[in-house]
Amino acid sequence: SRYFALIPAAGVGARMSAGCPKQYLPLAGKPMLRHVLDTFAATPEIAHTYVVVSPEDGYIADVLSGASHLFDRISVIYHGGATRHQSVLNGLRAIGGQVGENDWVLVHDAARPGLNGELIGKLVCELRDDPVGGLLALPVVDTLKRGDGERRAQATVSREHLWAAQTPQMFRYALLRRALEQADAVTDEASAIEALGLQPKLVEGSPRNLKVTLPHDVALAELYLKGIA
Ligand code: C5P
Repeated sequence: SRYFALIPAAGVGARMSAGCPKQYLPLAGKPMLRHVLDTFAATPEIAHTYVVVSPEDGYIADVLSGASHLFDRISVIYHGGATRHQSVLNGLRAIGGQVGENDWVLVHDAARPGLNGELIGKLVCELRDDPVGGLLALPVVDTLKRGDGERRAQATVSREHLWAAQTPQMFRYALLRRALEQADAVTDEASAIEALGLQPKLVEGSPRNLKVTLPHDVALAELYLKGIA
């Protein structure tokens, strides 16, 4: 089976309050999404990369123009939905003719520019013979509190066995599509797979693969991308 990447990049980045959707913010010299596309295009295991953007997207053409090394490695699907879940599902439906039922799909957030070939290689290597698939994730390091409506701590939740999910999340095409068709309102692929009664494998990711969500994440992502941290 082959490996494909699917990048949901149709969000508006509301929590970032920037002038453009966050996946297009400049980061260490190029737009955030371009880091992700360059990384997948440079990874030999990946047969092709699909990026899902909003039907009204006015930025992706500029991001790709002049990048001749990306032309035959990346396709754009102008069919983002109202949620990440819907954007991924629209993308899976759109690529049904090009991808086999048993081919692997690596779904990766456009907002995680710190991913590198080494992490992709580790994920692929650990999951290639796995019956279910899995995801990059990090063991939780903080002490966790369950708060009430008044922001009073009610209890401390043990962090033993707790992981923070990252992406890529890697599952076979047919299973992933069925899981997402049946799930309602999931925030990642693994939860849809879990809802089918299957257990995705947790593969240790890296702090450098952080999701850029709030303005201060931008500076941290730049440190990683520039190799300072
Ligand atoms: O907003 P958040 O950081 O959770 O988004 C994660 C990823 O999902 C981002 O790459 C974003 O562009 C994408 N997304 C999408 N369609 C939406 C919402 C988010 O493709 N409707």
